[in-house]
Amino acid sequence: MAQLLPILAGTQRCCSLRRVTFLLLIALALAFFGYCYQKPRAQKLENIQAGASVAVRERHDLQDVNLPRMVYPQPQVLALPREDVLLVTPWLAPIIWEGTFNIDILNEWFRLQNTTIGLTVFAVKKNIIYLKQLLETAERHFMVGYKVNYYIFTDRPDHVPRIPLQNGRQMVILKVQSYSSWRDIFLHRMEVISNFSEQRFHREVDYLVCADGKMKFTEHVGVEILASLFGTLHPGFYGLSRNNFPYERRPQSQAQIPEDEGDFYYTGALFGGSVPEVHRLTKACYQAMMVDKNSDIDAVWLEESHLNKYLLYHKPSKVLSPEYMWNKQLLGYWGAEQVNRLLRIVTRIRLNVLGNSFQE
Ligand SMILES: *[C@@H]1O[C@H](CO)[C@@H](O)[C@H](O)[C@H]1NC(C)=O
Ligand SMILES: *[C@@H]1O[C@H](CO)[C@@H](O)[C@H](O)[C@H]1NC(C)=O
Repeated sequence: MAQLLPILAGTQRCCSLRRVTFLLLIALALAFFGYCYQKPRAQKLENIQAGASVAVRERHDLQDVNLPRMVYPQPQVLALPREDVLLVTPWLAPIIWEGTFNIDILNEWFRLQNTTIGLTVFAVKKNIIYLKQLLETAERHFMVGYKVNYYIFTDRPDHVPRIPLQNGRQMVILKVQSYSSWRDIFLHRMEVISNFSEQRFHREVDYLVCADGKMKFTEHVGVEILASLFGTLHPGFYGLSRNNFPYERRPQSQAQIPEDEGDFYYTGALFGGSVPEVHRLTKACYQAMMVDKNSDIDAVWLEESHLNKYLLYHKPSKVLSPEYMWNKQLLGYWGAEQVNRLLRIVTRIRLNVLGNSFQE
């Protein structure tokens, strides 16, 4: 009996050890599943907190999309699609150049998700005359085959041209106040996009593309640009060192970027992303511009300066190459050498900005 006791105690110890291990394993498994379950919810919560009441309509996790069988050229691990340009940022966001993507794969992907895209355009004052050309060329080149809402912000709704649209595409005319100065127009552009993202866009579209009113599409612009947040390299500054970028440098402005910081110079004429991300961006820029306004300072390139500041600290998940932002007039200002250098790397001009936004 006395001998049995230690044996029993031994088995008990052994059993309790096994039990502890078992419990530990269960705890680990629970922790793991809890983590998997919590993670998307935590992200959702973060999005909701960031975007106030913006509902999460985006579906950026493409894993659950089942692609059909497709035949296309094999991606080559040992050959770069382009050797003359940067293809990915140091934070691993792709830079979108001709020759680096297969649009058929991307189309399968985005079509399976029934992606709907909103294009916001400001056509205020006399810039309304550019709208017809923009819409007509968008019908030929912009997100062809997708559901598209054109959100036209204008102070002259009666002047909006009625042009025939493809199936699944519609025009939504949104009246905005007419401000006398361009400063106020740019300031309120950010505010208006932010307000509408929160109030309506999140119910209607998955992605927003925010474009300047004075431009036309000259080539395909499709789902290759879509990402939770994207910016576009300004064609006039893509090759310069950061201290030569026309960032706002004065510390009094909210848009200030010190000389030793900065990735790229992004254009204010084309940016976008998922609705919650565009809401965050436009709200932050609007608030920063209001602070500047109250301290009686205008950033050197107004909302473009604030956009550059925002994208420095909120890295975009895709960057569009200057193919997406050609501007003949501005390039003329930089001279033939710059234009020729750019023409060597830009094999497609997809979007052409017509002049400078500030002119009346
Ligand atoms: C896309 O739309 C089709 C037809 O309306 C529907 O069957 C499908 O479930 C939708 N897919 C997604 C991911 O919402
Ligand atoms: C944007 O929304 C805020 C808060 O609802 C409102 O005060 C402001 O007037 C709105 N701005 C514009 C330009 O619609």
